[in-house]
Amino acid sequence: MSQNIYDDADFFSGYMELRKNESGLNAVLEEPALCGLLPPLEGLDVLELGCGFGKFAQYCLSQGVASVHGVDVSENMLAEARRRVDDPRARFSRLPLEELSLPLGSVDLVTASLCLHYIRDLFPVVSAVAGALRAGGTFVFSVEHPMCTCNARQDWERDAEGHPLHWPVDFYRMESIRATSWFIDGVLKYHRTVETYVNTVLDAGLRLRRLLEPVPAPEHIEIRPDLASQLRRPPFLLIAADK
Ligand SMILES: C[S@@+](CC[C@H](N)C(=O)[O-])C[C@H]1O[C@@H](n2cnc3c(N)ncnc32)[C@H](O)[C@@H]1O
Repeated sequence: MSQNIYDDADFFSGYMELRKNESGLNAVLEEPALCGLLPPLEGLDVLELGCGFGKFAQYCLSQGVASVHGVDVSENMLAEARRRVDDPRARFSRLPLEELSLPLGSVDLVTASLCLHYIRDLFPVVSAVAGALRAGGTFVFSVEHPMCTCNARQDWERDAEGHPLHWPVDFYRMESIRATSWFIDGVLKYHRTVETYVNTVLDAGLRLRRLLEPVPAPEHIEIRPDLASQLRRPPFLLIAADK
């Protein structure tokens, strides 16, 4: 069973508002880190898992890919992607990742940006990706960092004035579902350790190329001083692996 929280009206409007912010964590940290792990995109066939509203597909097209196929569980997201991306090289399909089944050796690059922590069983997804990649192909994904997903509350311990004291890392080894509040209550995420993310990639037969825990650059902190708190623990984990 897939959760489809992005089709909840309140969640969707909160999320889309967040993503308008070009000095937010996605724009200043996650997107550049993920793009830095990609091979040259020109001429590649790309599959994007959890494609959302098509921002990465637009980037792929601007870099000259042969094709980009975005899949997502959310009709809201897919409608937005189809509205924004009008190019014969792009297509978008509704597909819960829990039902992922892909033609063998059919793509050069698979990406999954900030969607795999919504999936209960990671191995079947990564294994399908490994099968779908052509020899020499690449899988790049990002997730909310396990230091962040371990505690369901996903927030700082704060002093009486609300200033962050520390980020609690607890229940780290307890890999399971977490019900969190993000725009609305009851958003379900699956916490896994860094060890599990890495070993799942290796068990699927891929070669680990790079692991990143990006933090904001000084110029970003200058524009948004509150981003300095991200230096205290990494918000994202990114992994690049090759076939
Ligand atoms: C945080 S958004 C990221 C969207 C996009 N990758 C980006 O970075 O702009 C997570 C996306 O994963 C999708 N998603 C969550 N669970 C999914 C599932 N089980 N199957 C397919 N897509 C899923 C959501 O609908 C949403 O579009």
